[in-house]
Amino acid sequence: MEGFTAQLLHALIGNIHLGIIVLDADMRIQYWNSFVAERCATPLEQACGQLLAEVFPQAISADFNRSIELARDQGRHVYSHWLEIPPLQLQPVSSESSLLALQSTLLFPFSTPDAATHFGLVVYDTSAVAQGNEQLRAALKALGTKQAEQDQLLRKLETANSQLLQSEKMAAIGQLAAGVAHEINNPIGYVFSNLKTLDGYVRDLLKIADAVDSAGDLDELRQLKRQLEYDYIRGDVAALISESEDGIDRVTRIISALKDFSHIEEDEFRPADLHRGLDTTLNVVNNELKYKAEVIKEYGKLPEVECILSQINQVVMNLLVNAAHAIEQFGRITLRTGCDDDWAWIEVEDNGKGIDPKLLNRIFEPFFTTKPVGKGTGLGLALSYNIVQKHSGSIEVHSEPDVGTRFRINLPLRQANARPQADAPQP
Ligand SMILES: Nc1ncnc2c1ncn2[C@@H]1O[C@H](COP(=O)(O)OP(=O)(O)O)[C@@H](O)[C@H]1O
Ligand SMILES: [Mg+2]
Repeated sequence: MEGFTAQLLHALIGNIHLGIIVLDADMRIQYWNSFVAERCATPLEQACGQLLAEVFPQAISADFNRSIELARDQGRHVYSHWLEIPPLQLQPVSSESSLLALQSTLLFPFSTPDAATHFGLVVYDTSAVAQGNEQLRAALKALGTKQAEQDQLLRKLETANSQLLQSEKMAAIGQLAAGVAHEINNPIGYVFSNLKTLDGYVRDLLKIADAVDSAGDLDELRQLKRQLEYDYIRGDVAALISESEDGIDRVTRIISALKDFSHIEEDEFRPADLHRGLDTTLNVVNNELKYKAEVIKEYGKLPEVECILSQINQVVMNLLVNAAHAIEQFGRITLRTGCDDDWAWIEVEDNGKGIDPKLLNRIFEPFFTTKPVGKGTGLGLALSYNIVQKHSGSIEVHSEPDVGTRFRINLPLRQANARPQADAPQP
């Protein structure tokens, strides 16, 4: 039985596609299998008893000496990778020219039954693994390059995005300026014309007053009063003055709205009166809304909300302008507010054409627009979303085609990070 096992092992070692060399404690060659014999110029009989380094000079290396130490002193199995210089290089036989280009080795100690220390040195071909590894490395490198390209593209996109958001802000400011010009033009126009009329009236009244000294009798004076339509002037003066006051009042309100909006670049959270912000915004977009919709205000009770008011104004402006755009003839826009627990909310609802349910999940994407070129940038809602995110709030939308759309902004009354951030030095 023992003899059979020995035969089996001998056959195994003779046929295995690995080089197996047995060395004694001094690194003298004791045996190698036929795999080594076929791939080494020195015959085994000649090599037997010689030092490994005498037959394979490559084995004289600091690396291999270290391997021997590790195996001998610590009983370790020491592998050498094909990338390191191997302690020996077997030559491939002619049929396997592509093999054995790269070899790895394993050195390990073992004891024979008589307790003598020996070493096993196994040499195996890793060309295929190395080749696969090289391919993997090349693929990884290519991936790395791709990744770098993508990172660069992403950075470019980010820059472009922030430039576009900036340009949307500029567009908002442009819209604001146009709105203001339009709104101011009208009252200034009639205040100016009222002043001209009043100028005429004052001249006539002065004529009558002067006539008090020069007139011969009262009849003459009465005659002059009739002639200059004194009764009409008397009635009209009050109307002209009150109308002009209204006009000046409107201009004043617009100017103060403009002041609120001029903080558009401001970046600090502070408690603010949202209703004041909404009224300001309504004033600014009034000329876009008034031909498209009746605006209904349903304000609830709101405490001050810690926010960047100019930015919230901009969000509401975007929602109002979108609502007006969604209305084809003349409709209704409802601006609603309220407060639940620690949250304030603002709703902008229209009875316009609604949003196709298939597109509902895309409306916050930058550049998503269903409007013709020149009218829509597709950035209004993206910018609004960013702003609300920055406030740790949320935007919800409900829409039904041909019925209308309702946007709701939820804002926390207090910003958890606002104060420490404001105190901390800016990075
Ligand atoms: N109130 C609304 N009613 C219907 N559609 C809307 C409304 N608000 C937004 N949308 C849709 O969302 C799209 C994106 O809006 P937005 O980001 O403001 O860009 P823009 O207004 O420039 O198109 C609009 O093009 C429109 O299709
Ligand atoms: Mg828009």
